[in-house]
Amino acid sequence: MTDHLTVVNHPLVQHKLTLMRKKSTSTAEFRQLLREISQLLAYEVTRDLPMTTQPIDTPMQEMDAPVLAGAKLALVSILRAGNGLLDGMLELIPSARVGFVGLYRDEETLEPVQYYFKVPTQLDKRLVIAVDPMLATGNSSVAAIDLLKKAGATNIHFLCLLAAPEGVQRMKEAHPDVPIVTASLDERLNEKGYIVPGLGDAGDRMFGTK
Ligand code: URA
Repeated sequence: MTDHLTVVNHPLVQHKLTLMRKKSTSTAEFRQLLREISQLLAYEVTRDLPMTTQPIDTPMQEMDAPVLAGAKLALVSILRAGNGLLDGMLELIPSARVGFVGLYRDEETLEPVQYYFKVPTQLDKRLVIAVDPMLATGNSSVAAIDLLKKAGATNIHFLCLLAAPEGVQRMKEAHPDVPIVTASLDERLNEKGYIVPGLGDAGDRMFGTK
């Protein structure tokens, strides 16, 4: 994966995303779909993980078999909506380390405000996958990645469900070294900083807070 933006056009991803966009989809359905789609996106974002081989015995004979190489990767959730992507990804990558960046968006300025930061050690040795369902203005994603780089991360990927062109552009300017994987590049942001056509407030939809 060398492009800055990868849109995962797999039919299962696109079908599940359509179900998630519908306003009639319940909180329980939304959460389940997010879990499923996060695994499909995780499959894409881990495509280039380094590999090595290990001698094993099959019931038939010995072989050198492929296994993941290097330090365990780190999943970093950008709170709170990022947590909705974690469970599914951890099912697929159970040994991943997990970090949290707490940022909320000031509804007036749309600027990110930090309230929590806890990440795994040795970030410099790991593939770090920062997760947030919505790449909207890009302000909180850029701020989270600033913090991860300050903490030592050098190999960072960003995984989201939906991206707005404005957020992709902002990320590209601030962090051109961080590839983005998403299920859709939507049309635009509205005047309140929401993605259009989007799916509404991802946090509210997954946690049922509205
Ligand atoms: N955050 C959301 O949850 N939804 C948007 O559309 C934009 C930011």
